Amino acid sequence: MPGVGQAEGVSDERVVALWRDGGAVVVPADEPVLSAFDLGLVRGDGVFETVAVTGGGTPHLDAHLARLERSARLMELADPGRGAWQALVDALLARWSTPVEGAMRLLLTRGLGVGLPTTALGVLSPVPAETVRQRTEGIAVVTLGLGVPADFRSTAPWLLGGAKTLSYAVNMAALRHAAVHGADDVIFTSLEGQILEGPTSTVVWSADGVLHTPPPETGILPGTTMARLFARAAEAGRPTAVTPGTVDDLQAADAVWLVSGVRAAATVHTLDGVPRGDAGLSAGVRGLLAR
Ligand SMILES: Cc1ncc(COP(=O)(O)O)c(C=O)c1O
Repeated sequence: MPGVGQAEGVSDERVVALWRDGGAVVVPADEPVLSAFDLGLVRGDGVFETVAVTGGGTPHLDAHLARLERSARLMELADPGRGAWQALVDALLARWSTPVEGAMRLLLTRGLGVGLPTTALGVLSPVPAETVRQRTEGIAVVTLGLGVPADFRSTAPWLLGGAKTLSYAVNMAALRHAAVHGADDVIFTSLEGQILEGPTSTVVWSADGVLHTPPPETGILPGTTMARLFARAAEAGRPTAVTPGTVDDLQAADAVWLVSGVRAAATVHTLDGVPRGDAGLSAGVRGLLAR
């Protein structure tokens, strides 16, 4: 529960649950839970999901669990199964204050080595104020090259394209690089200048009344929020398209968003230092996601 003197909806609470001996166990948030030799820690050898918690629930959990299973398969990691993940989610939610908007991370690591059990755990903490600010006020974004051809990762399974692995050091370094240049976020581009994705988000843009997003064959992570947005847009009769785009396409677009589960659709108000508008489209996009 929020501590005494905290505003409603603001909390420093944190919850941790482990999958241990066939059951979900909640442990004190500051208790050490991993072996120092866990390969998730030592090598970033694992997968994860970040799931939005709203109104005390996880309305979009299924899509995240499906992707977690897919990531585990791509990594040849033994997955404890839907029942285990659901038990961890339930254990975390049981300790959570309903009005607080949360970010739940579900993590699966290779544990202590091949042939030994994998490590599965979940952590839940409040959505940072900065994330809420970016969702509300929009973001300045810089484009940064990833150095791979757009069609390379689909032929290179060792690069783990499309898997949400724990190896996010490059993604975090890109965000720090952006911050040094006065930006909030990043759009990665391929060697030949195609739009790929953000370090923690999917790129969506609107041009001529069509919502566009880059092809998953580029090795980007298939975004669950983008998929939901596109499904709901289609239901509402709004055309969508999977399009290989360039930075010029984004500069010429009516609106650009970085979309992800917790931050939802963050409007890009500045791209590579150039201010840009959203043609009044952001409210509609957020409305589609909020339903
Ligand atoms: C690299 C990357 N792309 C896209 C996304 C967006 O995924 P989702 O909409 O499922 O949150 C994320 C989310 O963390 C991400 O890390």
